[in-house]
Amino acid sequence: MDTNDRELSYQTRSQHEGLAVSLVAVSKTYRSGGSESVTAVDAVTLDILPGHSLALTGRSGSGKSTLLHLIGAMDVPDEGQITIDGTDIARLRDSERAALRRRIGFVFQRFHLLPALTALDNVLAPVLPYRTDFDKVARARELLGAVGLGDRVKHLPSQLSGGEQQRVAIARALINHPGIVLADEPTGNLDTHTGTEIVAVLDRLRTERGLTLIVATHDASIARRCGRTLVLSDGRILSDSD
Ligand SMILES: Nc1ncnc2c1ncn2[C@@H]1O[C@H](COP(=O)(O)OP(=O)(O)O)[C@@H](O)[C@H]1O
Ligand SMILES: [Mg+2]
Repeated sequence: MDTNDRELSYQTRSQHEGLAVSLVAVSKTYRSGGSESVTAVDAVTLDILPGHSLALTGRSGSGKSTLLHLIGAMDVPDEGQITIDGTDIARLRDSERAALRRRIGFVFQRFHLLPALTALDNVLAPVLPYRTDFDKVARARELLGAVGLGDRVKHLPSQLSGGEQQRVAIARALINHPGIVLADEPTGNLDTHTGTEIVAVLDRLRTERGLTLIVATHDASIARRCGRTLVLSDGRILSDSD
């Protein structure tokens, strides 16, 4: 594929097709000023099929967030190869990588909603700078309906519960028809009941829309809701339920 084809393919792929993720011997070491260095991800080899769900578990510091950032092309590995939808992401040019990133939705522990914007405008925010081949406002409303907030579109984040704010963040992650959704401790700021609901919403959207879903969590009951569980320790895969 030449560059333009590849950009086009990330932008216009079927809306019901998750992207495949493949890692081969991926490592990432953080070197801080002194002599200390931490290998946050250590020779990880992993295949995730399109439309599947994976829980990344392991203690704090085991490398979950680093692995998500590498898969999301927000960080670059020191070694190894990451392939998304058949393309080695290290070989992408900047514009291609930007196009790929727009097809990857992120959900964070702390929601990261913009406090001055309504729920609707928060969902719209990621696509406002871009021309899209879909009606942005109609899609944002549809997504807020899909996460159960059809009657909260004009609310500000401060007028929403934690669980509702995370639902807005999930709708925002889906606005640009992602093929992959990466969620980093999405239930970490929520009580168990609300957290369980949030993962159920994520998994329902995955099934309905054919997304590939990767959830980092240290909560075993949350992890059990995903089809497959990977346990990380010191950046290595300790076990894989597959
Ligand atoms: N930006 C960074 N600079 C230096 N060390 C980091 C950085 N990010 C993470 N680390 C270290 O890498 C290891 C893995 O961190 P992280 O991926 O955040 O784990 P987890 O998400 O499982 O808690 C930890 O030892 C952490 O201190
Ligand atoms: Mg983390």
